Amino acid sequence: MKRKLFVAVMCAAMVAGTVAAPAAVKAESKGLIGVAMPTQDLQRWNQDGENMKKELEAKGYEVDLQFAGNEVATQVSQIENMIANGDQLLVIASIEGDSLGTVLAQAKEAGIPVIAYDRLIMNTDAVSYYATFDNYLVGKTQGQFIADALDLENQDGPFNLELVTGDPGDNNVNFFFGGAMDVLQPYIDAGKLVVPSGQVTKDEVATAAWATETAQARFENILSSYYADGTNLDAVLASNDSTALGVENALAANYTGEYPLITGQDCDIANMPNIIDGKQAMSVFKDTRALASKVVEMVDAIMQGGEAPVNDEETYDNGTGVIPSYLCEPIAVTVDNYKELLIDSGYYTEDQLQ
Ligand code: BGC
Repeated sequence: MKRKLFVAVMCAAMVAGTVAAPAAVKAESKGLIGVAMPTQDLQRWNQDGENMKKELEAKGYEVDLQFAGNEVATQVSQIENMIANGDQLLVIASIEGDSLGTVLAQAKEAGIPVIAYDRLIMNTDAVSYYATFDNYLVGKTQGQFIADALDLENQDGPFNLELVTGDPGDNNVNFFFGGAMDVLQPYIDAGKLVVPSGQVTKDEVATAAWATETAQARFENILSSYYADGTNLDAVLASNDSTALGVENALAANYTGEYPLITGQDCDIANMPNIIDGKQAMSVFKDTRALASKVVEMVDAIMQGGEAPVNDEETYDNGTGVIPSYLCEPIAVTVDNYKELLIDSGYYTEDQLQ
């Protein structure tokens, strides 16, 4: 531990009266916490990172916050540096759930606890806790929204549906897509929902890196191949807002039929005008302030030598066993409740959504 060694040497020197206390060493700091976020390209990770930093600092911790530009190798080397710098606990939102085993073995070896943030880190026994939103409920909420809006219990349809999910390396996708399909698949089996593109498996509907442009390109292909003859598109399950935006961009340029229902997640500022204009039927609000506060509570408990608060000890098995988790609650947002949920709660200002 370079940092510990440095502190020990400095302390000895100060006791010996040879060195004045350096300004950078905060005597009152409760510890150094590494926060590794995947990318600054998407709105939410900037918010998550900033919230974590602000709240941890308010509790007296020093924070080493890093963003990895969606590059797995960058994230691995950032975590290596955190370990070498003597970070005492790591909070990590992974880019690819399966790629951190080797570096986290080093963290475990050094006795550094790890909290998986939002995305579960797979196949390593170095993860102590997981904090996220109820990802299965996110997917179910999206699927149920489509089922209710098309009144699938009572209508025969058939209605045309297309499916778009996120990065296949993100374990959350299994829950988002799985939760939505648990609602929608029975209607597909009953013939009430039809997927004209025939693209229905997780791999067929995935979007690498959750990128808007990738979702848009795939959707442009779908529109020109299956809807150019005037076939109506009734609904699109999009797992989050960045992919929903790709679908909306593709529709704007290539589709003249009756506008479909589109789902999303995150209530990104970029999507809010479409929600307000009725071009995106819903999004799922995940209050990143609530997640950050919970994780700070968990960090504080662990740093004091205690156990972190959890509310789920059965859902999230990372391949080495179930990881004790805290699940925050996701909430469906539409044009009817966005003001109350997003503006009155202070998440956004009215100006940001103009
Ligand atoms: C998060 C979503 C986000 C997506 C893309 C997922 O792991 O849970 O909130 O939209 O990643 O960044």
